[in-house]
Amino acid sequence: MTQGMSAPILEVTNLTKRYGGLVAVKNLSFSIAPGEILGLIGPNGSGKSTAMKSIMGVERPSAGSIKLDGVELAGLPSHQIARKGVGLVFQHSRPLARQTVLENIKVALLPDKLTHLFADKDTDGKARAIAARVGLAGVLDRKPATLAFADLRRLELAKAVARHPKLVLVDEPFAGLTASEVADFSQLIREFRVEGRAVLLVDHNVKSVSALVDRVLAMYLGEWIAEGAAADVMRDETVRRVYLGGALVSTARAESLFSDRTPVLQVENVGVCYGKARALQDVSLHVHEGEFVSLVGLNGAGKTTLFNAISGLMAYSGEIKWAGRPLRPGSPAQIARSGIVQCPETRELFGEMSVRENLDLGGNALGGEECARQLNWLFDLFPILKARQSQMARTLSGGEQQMLAIARALMMKPKLLILDEPTLGLAPVILETLSRALDRLRETTKITLLLGEQNVTFALPHADRVYVLDHARIVWEGPPDRFEAEAAANYL
Ligand SMILES: Nc1ncnc2c1ncn2[C@@H]1O[C@H](COP(=O)(O)OP(=O)(O)OP(=O)(O)O)[C@@H](O)[C@H]1O
Ligand SMILES: [Mg+2]
Repeated sequence: MTQGMSAPILEVTNLTKRYGGLVAVKNLSFSIAPGEILGLIGPNGSGKSTAMKSIMGVERPSAGSIKLDGVELAGLPSHQIARKGVGLVFQHSRPLARQTVLENIKVALLPDKLTHLFADKDTDGKARAIAARVGLAGVLDRKPATLAFADLRRLELAKAVARHPKLVLVDEPFAGLTASEVADFSQLIREFRVEGRAVLLVDHNVKSVSALVDRVLAMYLGEWIAEGAAADVMRDETVRRVYLGGALVSTARAESLFSDRTPVLQVENVGVCYGKARALQDVSLHVHEGEFVSLVGLNGAGKTTLFNAISGLMAYSGEIKWAGRPLRPGSPAQIARSGIVQCPETRELFGEMSVRENLDLGGNALGGEECARQLNWLFDLFPILKARQSQMARTLSGGEQQMLAIARALMMKPKLLILDEPTLGLAPVILETLSRALDRLRETTKITLLLGEQNVTFALPHADRVYVLDHARIVWEGPPDRFEAEAAANYL
């Protein structure tokens, strides 16, 4: 559908949002027609989420106009904006923890005025229908904490559907989803189009965004840089330079090049159960000193469980040896002191502390001079963190937080760095930065890397060797160049 066929539902004119001296969104103008999906792309920190939050009224715009069906929204509180027909599917889910899936959807269905509370007797039926539509019918009675990652995202979508928005804002729906889950979600978003709703979609999965949207708008440093059909925008030179970047270069080293006879990390027949569910079964793998190993697996395959076992965060059967000596489960502090540092997918930053304070905490164990040297080196790798030293961690954009989490782990000067899904939410161009950072680590330090990813486009070029973890078991091991022919079925 092209713009101009019908009057736009949403019309944004000269939207600006300032945080002190920082202009997160600058003079941004665009519109979306009924039944149209507009994709918003741009590097991390370019202002995409801020634009959405300003439209939703979660953040108050500093200037500009936001009209929904001709009615001005700028300056209204978010609950009024929601009532006028705008729904936001957040970048990070925040369901009511004590309520079940069904109850969460019902709450979203409640009319806002208490007087209408009992007017609609069929809330239950409606909630069940919405759950079925988004694929939650099987987990209605579960609490959010027990849901799989994709189901949490489905719940966010269900809550948005329940409110019948004219305009749906969707922030990074595909992050962390498998290819088939992405296809499911794309289909759900297409249904919004069929129903004549307007959709504003942000995501770094360029391929899936291009396949789904009617038009793309690219932002950089808060500003509009290009707009049009996805294929044209992706060809745009500025977009290529600031967002897409170049292809990643692969440089695997043969296992025989590693001279240590006994690998520095040995995982032997490790098993973990959560109640009756087996999270890891008979998992064995090894990593040589200085080697980069990728553990590839879809959501729920058991990657994080294995990393937590290595880090001493959970009990397991079997044995894990580090430098030839068995590690003791349940002693995470001691294990960290021995040089194993895990950068968790949940980031675990201190949100109320500044970027600098988070980094300093990481460098706690280093001497003053060494700490300063390490900090400089990291600022060189991630210049944005240098510029944002005094910003509170929780106000960083999604991708900036990911960079801070990785940098904080590196502040500890680990011998073994475990990165759990580091690419989650990173723009392609930042993947390139991270890629270069890993290459430099490989060339200039003796660091050993264990990388957990479902993004094989990133995992393969950075691996000397690859393991595939599938349903709690290692099902393949080999060099990256054999992956495509022998193990790629689920991933490419
Ligand atoms: N409360 C705040 N105080 C200061 N700066 C902020 C605040 N909120 C956001 N910012 C900054 O505004 C810029 C835009 O952030 P935003 O979250 O909109 O980026 P984004 O395009 O969604 O990025 P990503 O792709 O990484 O999610 C970032 O540099 C961020 O650090
Ligand atoms: Mg964002």
